[in-house]
Amino acid sequence: MRVLYFLTGSTRGLGAALAQAIAAGTDCTLVTLSRQPACHAARRHDFALDLADLDSVERWCTSDWQGHTGIPRHGRAVLINNAGIVDPVAPMINASRDAMRRAIAINVTAPMMLMQWFASQLAAFADTGSIINISSGAGRRPIAGWGAYCTTKAGLDMASQVAAIEWQPRIRVTSLAPGVIDTDMQAQIRATSEADFADVQRFKDLKTSGALVTAEAVAKRILELDSQGLLPAGLADIRSLSVKPSELP
Ligand SMILES: NC(=O)c1ccc[n+]([C@@H]2O[C@H](COP(=O)([O-])OP(=O)(O)OC[C@H]3O[C@@H](n4cnc5c(N)ncnc54)[C@H](OP(=O)(O)O)[C@@H]3O)[C@@H](O)[C@H]2O)c1
Repeated sequence: MRVLYFLTGSTRGLGAALAQAIAAGTDCTLVTLSRQPACHAARRHDFALDLADLDSVERWCTSDWQGHTGIPRHGRAVLINNAGIVDPVAPMINASRDAMRRAIAINVTAPMMLMQWFASQLAAFADTGSIINISSGAGRRPIAGWGAYCTTKAGLDMASQVAAIEWQPRIRVTSLAPGVIDTDMQAQIRATSEADFADVQRFKDLKTSGALVTAEAVAKRILELDSQGLLPAGLADIRSLSVKPSELP
């Protein structure tokens, strides 16, 4: 079946690995939403969008996308809300209010707007759909220094669970904790001071002990789980899901 993917944050880390894996699929079309879009290629359409600018997200949903008619109808469509930021990393009493607002916009509000757009427009571009929101274990337990990150990922988890029950069975919505991935975000976490993030040494140890997973491996697993229908509706953690052995290369 031909699959149309919408992906945010395709420039680096997990998003770049997802974009590369999707682009390699023969029956896939990719639409990316990123601050620095790559160039258009066959079956790839890149839109410039800063998710912190919610007016631009609104414009994209109501006019930029509507004016884009070059994409044929597909059997299935998948929205992957991958873009996210960990900033501000600081005790909540010190965290910049602007940075907290920015985190909420990028990690929760923009993904919710795109989810709503996707659900309301799906019939125009595909028969069935799924939404994969890239969440974090940090949304499921409190971590000192990550007030904004924990709060926004918890918000994304709840928005996903509400959408999952409202939109079933037409759209399967999953909020997926992807494990600890070797990306710029992890480098940024390791670079924070112990005063801002008391648990920083544990993240340095994860890196030196080789416990981080590559973005490529995580991307491949997410796409396999989705295409095999193995992502559950609601909350999920990639570490407790397995792909069907017969499908492994
Ligand atoms: N790495 C981990 O261990 C880990 C663990 C749990 C969950 N996650 C989640 O996994 C997802 C991907 O993380 P990652 O590790 O790949 O992070 P990353 O390497 O820091 O990449 C973040 C991506 O989000 C994009 N982004 C940030 N701000 C944006 C904005 N205002 N507008 C549009 N795009 C924006 C970035 O684009 P620019 O290049 O334009 O900045 C980049 O493509 C995130 O949601 C993160 O919370 C990661």
